[in-house]
Amino acid sequence: MPFYPSPSSEPDNTSMTYISERHDFTDKRTGYEQLATQLHGLLDGEADPIANAANTAALIFDALPEVSWAGFYFLRGGELVVGPFQGKPACVRIALGRGVCGTAAARRATLIVPDVNAFPGHIACDGASRSEVVVPLIAADRLVGVLDLDSARLARFDEEDARGLERLAAIFVRASRMEELR
Ligand code: SME
Repeated sequence: MPFYPSPSSEPDNTSMTYISERHDFTDKRTGYEQLATQLHGLLDGEADPIANAANTAALIFDALPEVSWAGFYFLRGGELVVGPFQGKPACVRIALGRGVCGTAAARRATLIVPDVNAFPGHIACDGASRSEVVVPLIAADRLVGVLDLDSARLARFDEEDARGLERLAAIFVRASRMEELR
């Protein structure tokens, strides 16, 4: 089992050992269950939204197979602005309603895009990206951003990924002081 020292039992919270776990996502339900438990442990006792977004993106990117980019865009000044992520450098600002991220945000609905080249208005940050899933982040009924994942494989993400990622996004939002990001 990976070891996450609880900040409450470790007053200075300066040391941590993370042991990477590549779950067997052939059973996605179990894989996401385990990832949700890990994320709870990872965010326990910390509410800083940037710190928590950084660790959430890192955990997802490390654990999920065939993911080329995982990270956050946050709603700031009426547009999406890139937040903590893992992967290649990404476009910084996305207008609501534009691209996969802006469309998911405007609709407040998770979007699974099996083939990004078939999605009108897709914003290509990484030319190798073939499929994408975007989960809106809602805190106290307000849109606060999106969680975005890309893959170099066509149709990498399905409904089970969407539900699993929605659960991880909810854990992140609940653990974090999202109002600090406005
Ligand atoms: N492809 C996204 C842009 C963000 S990157 O994938 C990191 C979109 O169309 O909104």
